[in-house]
Amino acid sequence: MAEPSPVASLPIVCSGGEVRIGQTRILSSINLTIEPGTSTFVIGPNGSGKSTLLRLLHGLLAPSQGAVTWGGRVGPPVRQAMVFQRAVLLRRSAAANIRYALRLVGIVGAEARKRIDDALAEVGLKALAQRSARVLSGGEQQRLALARAWALRPEVLFLDEPTASLDPKATRAVEDIVRGIHARGTTIVMSTHNLPQAKRLAGSVVFLDEGRLVEHSPAHEFFASPRTPEAAAFLEGERL
Ligand SMILES: Nc1ncnc2c1ncn2[C@@H]1O[C@H](COP(=O)(O)OP(=O)(O)OP(=O)(O)O)[C@@H](O)[C@H]1O
Ligand SMILES: [Mg+2]
Repeated sequence: MAEPSPVASLPIVCSGGEVRIGQTRILSSINLTIEPGTSTFVIGPNGSGKSTLLRLLHGLLAPSQGAVTWGGRVGPPVRQAMVFQRAVLLRRSAAANIRYALRLVGIVGAEARKRIDDALAEVGLKALAQRSARVLSGGEQQRLALARAWALRPEVLFLDEPTASLDPKATRAVEDIVRGIHARGTTIVMSTHNLPQAKRLAGSVVFLDEGRLVEHSPAHEFFASPRTPEAAAFLEGERL
């Protein structure tokens, strides 16, 4: 279970959230609530705004119109973590990468050592704790990024196509870790191009098209019978 937090990040509520960069509107009027304990998958074509939506919900990006609130406050959210398509790691050992992230939030000493051990064990990297993160394989690096995120005990974990550059075996390993983190009570918001993966892991699906939130449905309903022609066309195209 994620530890109880004095300052909850959830629910995350995005009301009329719009993101413009220069003259370009990248997200239009997004209304979306992320409830505690859910597993929300963001899918849609390239350039539809998935990464931008994750950054908005994480608070890395401010809306140009509308609002995002975390647990009823305007932010900043405190117990969140993000994992990207390619792990961003420091040139030091696997364990030291996690130690560094913990130190940034004031966790040091015995508590840090315990969390590092637990997190490396969780992702099956205990034997590689002292290996330089830069020489780990792509799959191992992504597992380390997940361990580092998990060590922070986030209430919400954002994952932006974390398996996009991994082979099927490494992909399954990451999926198992995400499933384990979710089972311990962490809310998941993840983007993917891998529809079978979304079917395996998603509780609900947010479908984006050209910066608009076209559909937000329980995953089984979305895949069985999408409500909109845009989503139906996307699913049809992906099946080819
Ligand atoms: N900093 C930026 N400046 C200008 N345009 C941007 C910026 N960030 C994103 N965009 C544009 O916004 C649109 C949405 O980008 P985003 O990366 O959110 O899409 P995506 O759905 O994650 O795509 P992909 O499937 O390729 O990862 C794209 O057209 C992109 O070019
Ligand atoms: Mg993206």
